[in-house]
Amino acid sequence: MCGIIGVVGEGSHAKQLTDGLRRLEYRGYDSAGLVVTFSDGEMQRRRVANGKNSLSELELETSEISSESIVSGIGHTRWATHGRPSLPNAHPHLDCSERLAVIQNGIVENYAELKVELIEKGHIFSSETDTEVISHLLEDEMRTGVTLLEAVKRSALRMRGAMSFVALSLDAVGELVGFKRMAPMIIGTNGDQWFIASDIPAILDQATSFFHLEDDSVASITKSGVEVFAKDGSRSEMTEFVVDWTLDSAEKAGYEDFMSKEIFEQPGALRDTLAGRLRGSGEIEFDETSISNDDLARINKVFIVACGTSFHAGMVAKYAIEHWTKMPVELDISSEFRYRDPVVDERTLVVAVSQSGETLDTLAALHEAKNLGAQTIAVCNVVGSSMARLADSVLYTRAGPEVGVAATKTHTAQIGALLLLALKLSRIKGQLFPSEIDGLYQELIEIPSKIEEVLDKWDSIRSVAQTFSERERFYFIGRHVGFPVALEGALKLKEISYLPAEGYPAGELKHGPIAMLDKNAVVIAMASKTRLFEKIVSNIEEVRARDSAVIVIGNSGSESVIREGEYFIEVPQVHPLLAPLVDVVPLQIFAYHMARIHGEDVDRPRNLAKTVTVE
Ligand code: M6R
Repeated sequence: MCGIIGVVGEGSHAKQLTDGLRRLEYRGYDSAGLVVTFSDGEMQRRRVANGKNSLSELELETSEISSESIVSGIGHTRWATHGRPSLPNAHPHLDCSERLAVIQNGIVENYAELKVELIEKGHIFSSETDTEVISHLLEDEMRTGVTLLEAVKRSALRMRGAMSFVALSLDAVGELVGFKRMAPMIIGTNGDQWFIASDIPAILDQATSFFHLEDDSVASITKSGVEVFAKDGSRSEMTEFVVDWTLDSAEKAGYEDFMSKEIFEQPGALRDTLAGRLRGSGEIEFDETSISNDDLARINKVFIVACGTSFHAGMVAKYAIEHWTKMPVELDISSEFRYRDPVVDERTLVVAVSQSGETLDTLAALHEAKNLGAQTIAVCNVVGSSMARLADSVLYTRAGPEVGVAATKTHTAQIGALLLLALKLSRIKGQLFPSEIDGLYQELIEIPSKIEEVLDKWDSIRSVAQTFSERERFYFIGRHVGFPVALEGALKLKEISYLPAEGYPAGELKHGPIAMLDKNAVVIAMASKTRLFEKIVSNIEEVRARDSAVIVIGNSGSESVIREGEYFIEVPQVHPLLAPLVDVVPLQIFAYHMARIHGEDVDRPRNLAKTVTVE
């Protein structure tokens, strides 16, 4: 949801901004822009609004800017919220005097009333964005004679909503002022230069030290360092954190796109996520925790909150936790959780699942859970992200940076981490013997090699996708943990290929969706060998009787369920509760090939952003 980057200090140049934006592009690509300031007090702005070509064109335009005497710069890649993608709406936004520039990620919720007030005062607006309100608000404050820093502090108090923004002014050359509230923003340095950015990959190749800002912080950044102020104006501190991601992990490394690279990285990501978590027989460890085992023993209910693909991982966890602990598990889409009255108290464990750890809906749900007195745990991929810092405990997926907008390796890593959580809870609740937990952990750590077997089917799955590439509609069906896998298969297909796709519990087909089945539909059935195998076979018969095409994902020995003209994709048979880790992989590959066959850009699907930091 918009990527922002800023640089200040010796040797700063515009290419640092465009390189950073390249790594933030997954956050939005409706337009791209930057502003650089020079030591003689000049400012230059470049903006391009040409969809996915914006950044390449910006790079070209920017190459004409002389690097000599640049002292600071800010850059932005946009995912449109207020105002359609267009040049006037592209960031950075200037004030009336064109001496001040602002980039923002988030939403100024009360922008309309602020805009009316500013227009009445004579400010002239040139865009439809909420961000331009910030430029004029800062200008208005600075007209009273205060510094840029003071103007940001005062203006931040007047704005509602979750946002992070960075401002620079020709009245404060060599200074960037950033503000963060419930939208990601980190600071980095290499000693000579300081950076501010939405996410680690943007500055991974430039910074050697990384710092977090707390919510409602204002940071003044110059070549000499950073001064941070809390909401009440008092001085506060940044927290340093360690980044063990390599630059390689944020690059395509020979793959055609990030999505295929990340699909192939799944065995490694899962291995890393599982490695070393079992410490002593039956004892699973969190990364960070302030919840004791005694506290967990008092838990009588688990509540999982998440969005999108993370929600599907949470759904798998519901089946596993209920089965292994006998505790009830509720599951909620984060944006629903916070606006109803969830029954949560101090004996509830709320688990927030999020790759980014920044998704605003899930972050807000986590805040709500804490307010309600629940014990909380975050399952996140980004170390030190907002959720990781807010929750009482953290269990990290160790999948490395995921750049493709469609989540793949972080999904399987999330399921792995959540299964570990389920095992930990079962141990504490005394539902499984330590030896049983050890046995399940052993089965888990064998899963990466099973995923490798599925990855070997890359080309044959492409042929299946090719066969059905002209079909109109796709239905994914599954039972038990096959249901969340079906949901995830449908989400992957629709988000990158834009084909109508739905996931259903197979038993629900006859209660409505079956009306949609005809010869233009394809049904993909999750049919691993479990106690429900025969039931799904009956559901496949129902599909066949409506002339829809059938693709079966099943285990060796089940090939006979298909008929002439149908397709069987074999996946290794594993413990039923671990099966989603393996069974989802052919669906990711199918979606990938289908999108490529249709000529779509798998890493940058239309209308989407990877990290959704608006409501
Ligand atoms: O960072 P999060 O896991 O909280 O993100 C949640 C969803 O926005 C995300 O999973 C989204 O559905 C992806 N595009 C799925 O591929």
